[in-house]
Amino acid sequence: MRIIRTKDYNSMSRYAAKFMAAQIILKPDSVLGLATGSTPIGAYKQLIEWCKDGDLDFSSVKTVNLDEYCGLSGDHDQSYRYFMNQNLFNHLNIDMNNTNVPNGIASDLQAECKRYDELIKSIGGVDLQLLGIGHNGHIGFNEPNTEFDKNTHVVDLKQSTIDANARFFKSKDDVPKQALTMGNKPIMSARKILLVVSGSEKRDILERALYGPVTPEVPASLLQMHNDLTVVCCVD
Ligand code: F6R
Repeated sequence: MRIIRTKDYNSMSRYAAKFMAAQIILKPDSVLGLATGSTPIGAYKQLIEWCKDGDLDFSSVKTVNLDEYCGLSGDHDQSYRYFMNQNLFNHLNIDMNNTNVPNGIASDLQAECKRYDELIKSIGGVDLQLLGIGHNGHIGFNEPNTEFDKNTHVVDLKQSTIDANARFFKSKDDVPKQALTMGNKPIMSARKILLVVSGSEKRDILERALYGPVTPEVPASLLQMHNDLTVVCCVD
């Protein structure tokens, strides 16, 4: 495990963007596992800038996102597909057909989970998985006490996650109660993992994840078992 502590959010974002850019430069047809949430936005902005300057080429890159709310279509402004289009994909020279987000409005959600796992395998698996961490230690939407060997699955969101995400919706009642998420298994199968963490309120959960016991109570603690984990954080 490598831990990079940066002085502020901007330096964290720049480091994360450089890490991702290096991956793309070394392997132009990389499969990137991507996350939503507020933490990666700065890194995404930096990647967009380098792509616009012609320094980074996304034309052969493929992406798979971690998760999506159930019941929200891709054009709903709180769906994760919409978030990714707005904050990254629309500004890159990426082929939209190569960008993947679970379909939250699939008529058969179990079949959608299976399709997603098969898709990840069919494109060769994830080269670099970008992750954030929730206040309760979740990664993707793998909430505390999720089995470590889960594939992509439907989750009932914990109240703490609904509360944390309510800031993006008109009211707490509008926050979906379920989501589709890549499970711990496909996440841990990524060849490299980059965890980005920002804010002093995440310091305790990050410490438990990195130095505490590996336990389903803290889903991110599983990352200790990954053989190529980089953490870039500003939590002081
Ligand atoms: C998002 C995701 C979540 C977030 C986590 C942290 O796709 O999978 O696990 O990474 O909730 O969110 P922020 O960055 O908003 O603190």
